[in-house]
Amino acid sequence: MKTVVTFAVGCLLVGAARAQSSNGVVQWDIQKRKQPQDLRRLGRRNATYEEVISNEDARGGYFATCKLGTPAQDLTLQLDTGSSDIWVPDSSAKVCRDSGFRGCDLGTFNPSKSTTYLTVGQNEFDISYVDGSSSKGDYFTDVFEIGGASLSNMTMGLGIKTDIAYGLVGVGYALNEAIVGNTQETSSAYPNLPVNMMEEGLINTVAYSLWLNDLDASSGSILFGGIDTEKYHGELTRINIYPTQKLYTAFLVAFTSLGAYSPSGSDTLTSKSFPIPVVLDSGTTLSYLPTDLAMQVWKEVGAIYSSQLQLAVIPCQMQNSKGYFSFGFGGPNGPLINVTMDELVLDLTGGQPLTFNNGPYKGMDACEFGIQNFTNPPYLLGDTFLRSAYVVYDLVNNQIGIAPTDFNSTRSNIVAFASKSAHIPSATVAPDQSQVTDVPSVTSPAYSASPGFTDSAGVKGGAPGLPRAFGLAQICIVGISMTIALFSSSLV
Ligand SMILES: *[C@@H]1O[C@H](CO)[C@@H](O)[C@H](O)[C@H]1NC(C)=O
Ligand SMILES: *[C@@H]1O[C@H](CO)[C@@H](O)[C@H](O)[C@H]1NC(C)=O
Ligand SMILES: *[C@@H]1O[C@H](CO)[C@@H](O)[C@H](O)[C@H]1NC(C)=O
Ligand SMILES: *[C@@H]1O[C@H](CO)[C@@H](O)[C@H](O)[C@H]1NC(C)=O
Ligand SMILES: *[C@@H]1O[C@H](CO)[C@@H](O)[C@H](O)[C@H]1NC(C)=O
Repeated sequence: MKTVVTFAVGCLLVGAARAQSSNGVVQWDIQKRKQPQDLRRLGRRNATYEEVISNEDARGGYFATCKLGTPAQDLTLQLDTGSSDIWVPDSSAKVCRDSGFRGCDLGTFNPSKSTTYLTVGQNEFDISYVDGSSSKGDYFTDVFEIGGASLSNMTMGLGIKTDIAYGLVGVGYALNEAIVGNTQETSSAYPNLPVNMMEEGLINTVAYSLWLNDLDASSGSILFGGIDTEKYHGELTRINIYPTQKLYTAFLVAFTSLGAYSPSGSDTLTSKSFPIPVVLDSGTTLSYLPTDLAMQVWKEVGAIYSSQLQLAVIPCQMQNSKGYFSFGFGGPNGPLINVTMDELVLDLTGGQPLTFNNGPYKGMDACEFGIQNFTNPPYLLGDTFLRSAYVVYDLVNNQIGIAPTDFNSTRSNIVAFASKSAHIPSATVAPDQSQVTDVPSVTSPAYSASPGFTDSAGVKGGAPGLPRAFGLAQICIVGISMTIALFSSSLV
C-alpha cells in the first residue's frame, strides 16, 4: 500500500500549494495489463489528454505509461492518490540489476541518457510508505509526458536505493510530498503533477476524477481537470476532505455508516470508531477498517481471519454471492456506495489457488477478502472500495465528489472545471455534514443478512457454522494449505 508514512505519523505543517489558472482537462485511461493492446486514444478533445493505465493483478495496482527525459524513455508507473511524488527507479538501482525475480520490468530511468536531466536536490529524495517499502535518491527535473501532455520542468525523485521495482505517480496534495515531511517545512513543497498541470495551463484547477472500473474489466480512466458524466449513476455528491492539524495533506473523508444487504435481510453495522476518518487511496489494493467493524463484515460474509497469513480469507466461490455492503459518507443522507461481493473476493497469489485444509471450508479454494482490519488509523479505502465509486478529487476546494460507478461504461461526456476555484461540476453538497460527528450507538447486528451472503453463493458451513461472538480462538486454527503455495516460484 502506498500511503506515505508522514501521514500515518501525522506530523504536518503549514502553507498551501499555490497554483494559477489556465484551461482544459487531461485524461488517461486505465487498462488491465493482461491485455496489452495499445488503447492510447485520440489526442485532444476540448483540451483533454488521454492515456492508457493498466490494472496489474499481480502487483495489485493501476499503472500509467509515461515518458521521461530527452530522448524519451518509457516507464510504467503506479498511480497513487495516497502519496504526492513522482519517482522512478534509477537504471543502476540494485533492485533492478539483480533481477532475481523479475527486475524492473516496468522500466527504469537512465539520467545520463537524458540531455534535459537536471539534479535539483542531491540525496534529498527519501520516501517511505506505510507498507514498509521505501525509495531514496535525488530530486531532479526533466521532461515528463503523460497521454501526450508534456510537462517540460517536472520535479521527480530518482530511486537509487529502493526495494520497489517500479516507480509511482503520486497525485495527492503537494504538502504530502516526501520533501515536506523530511524537512518539516511547507516551503519545501514543489508543484507536483496536478499542480504543475494547472500551472502549465493544461487544466483549469487542481482536480481530477478517477474511474477504476470493475475488478474484471480491462479499462478505467483518470481525468485531470474535469469529470465524465457518463461514468457514474445518479448525481455526484460533494463531501468535505478533512485537514490534519489544519493542513490538507491526505484525502481524508468521514465514513459514517455501513450496511450489509443480502437476499436474507439487512443489517446496520456499528463501530465505536464511527465517524471513521478514512483515506481514499488508489495505491492500496485492499481496504482496512477498524477491527470491531471488520469483524462484523467478516461474520456477515463468512470470511475467516487466518493467523498464518495474517489476512481475512474467504472461499473464492463467494464472488458469486448476491450480498453487498453499502458505505455511507458525510453524515446522515450523505452519499452511499454499494460494493458487491464480486469486487471483494480476490485471488491470493495471482497464480495457483490455496485451499482450506480444515474447518468449515475444507477443500475449497481460498481467496483474499477485500476488507481487512487495522488496529489504528489511518484506515484506508483502497481499490476494493474505489472500483465501485466514481471519485472526483478537488484539491482547491478540498472536497471529494462521489457517486456509484457505471461499470464498463463506453460512453463519455467530459465536463471541465470552469475555473480555478470552481466547484465540482454537476455535484450537490451532502446535506448533513454538520452532523458527521454524531456518534451512533454501538450495537451488535442480528446478522440477518449473513445466511443470504453464503447461500446465494452456494457455500454451506459459512458464517452460520462459525462459532458465535466471532470465536476467533477457533477461527485462528483454521489453516490454509500452503502445499502449492505462495513461495514455490521464488524458493525452488
Ligand atoms: C467540445 O465542447 C463543445 C462545447 O461544449 C461540444 O459541442 C463538443 O461536442 C465537444 N467536443 C468533444 C469532442 O467532446
Ligand atoms: C522548474 O521547476 C522548479 C520547481 O518548481 C522551479 O524552481 C524552477 O524555477 C523551474 N525552472 C524553470 C526553468 O522553469
Ligand atoms: C465488465 O467487463 C468485464 C470484462 O469484460 C466483465 O468481466 C464484467 O463482468 C463486466 N462488469 C459488469 C458490471 O458488467
Ligand atoms: C444501494 O443499496 C441501498 C440499500 O439496498 C439501496 O437503497 C440503493 O438504491 C443502492 N444504490 C444503488 C446505486 O444501487
Ligand atoms: C486483525 O484482526 C485479527 C483478529 O482479531 C487480529 O489478530 C489482528 O491482530 C488484527 N490485525 C490488525 C493489524 O489489527
